[in-house]
Amino acid sequence: MTEGFEAQQYDAIGAHWKNARELPTVYPERESFLRLLGDVSGSRVLDLACGDGFYTRQIKQLGAERAVGVDISPAMIEAARAAERQAPLGAEYLVADAGDPDLSELGRFDLVTAGYLVNYAKDAEELTDMCRGARSLLGRGGRFIGVTQHPRFSFDGPRPDPYGFVFDRQRVTPFGTYIQVTAALQPPISFETCLIRPEVYAHAFAAAGFSELRWVEMTVGKDAMRRFGDDFWQDFLANPPIVLFEARS
Ligand SMILES: C[S@@+](CC[C@H](N)C(=O)[O-])C[C@H]1O[C@@H](n2cnc3c(N)ncnc32)[C@H](O)[C@@H]1O
Repeated sequence: MTEGFEAQQYDAIGAHWKNARELPTVYPERESFLRLLGDVSGSRVLDLACGDGFYTRQIKQLGAERAVGVDISPAMIEAARAAERQAPLGAEYLVADAGDPDLSELGRFDLVTAGYLVNYAKDAEELTDMCRGARSLLGRGGRFIGVTQHPRFSFDGPRPDPYGFVFDRQRVTPFGTYIQVTAALQPPISFETCLIRPEVYAHAFAAAGFSELRWVEMTVGKDAMRRFGDDFWQDFLANPPIVLFEARS
């Protein structure tokens, strides 16, 4: 996967991504992510792989002093800017690769977030560059948090299909298991990504200078339970397709 390919894959998806935000997976994802985010009031937050600004906007609404969204796809950034024009919050957006050293020109941040970025690294070098990019923008003790495909997802366990995303295994390598993910939408949205091995993550975060990498499992809250029923989430929790991470600089 090249950098050009990565931008193209989401340029084609563009504004359709917001429809994926109605799928069941997003309920535990959003709630778990916002809990890990914590109190951002008065903070400077950089949202890498911000897409259409779904989380960037929420971060600004939660009182962040500064919320900057960065994405490699011009179409995604255009969707984010359109939302900002329609209902201005003061979020800023930029088209760039998350590993671009020039991002340091944006200044320092208290928190860097990344909803589905690291799983798009094509190899250990690109993963380390992404982590280095985040690390270089954080002050001492700053946090890098995000959501990614679960490194311990098992193809022998329950499938994520009922939760809106179908996983097709493409190939298994020492870096991880490459998959095609199809979101159950009309028309369906497909993208390629990787279930990167946990030891590869550990090595990349350490090489980038993070002192600690913690995996945080998804939880299913009252809202999702009420909407879909308690039994619905059993398979999701038994073999979670996604997970959160928190690293400290
Ligand atoms: C699944 S979307 C998630 C968007 C948003 N974070 C959310 O949770 O709604 C993944 C995003 O990652 C972006 N992306 C992939 N590789 C990237 C890279 N190297 N640098 C910046 N953005 C990247 C894609 O363009 C896409 O918008």
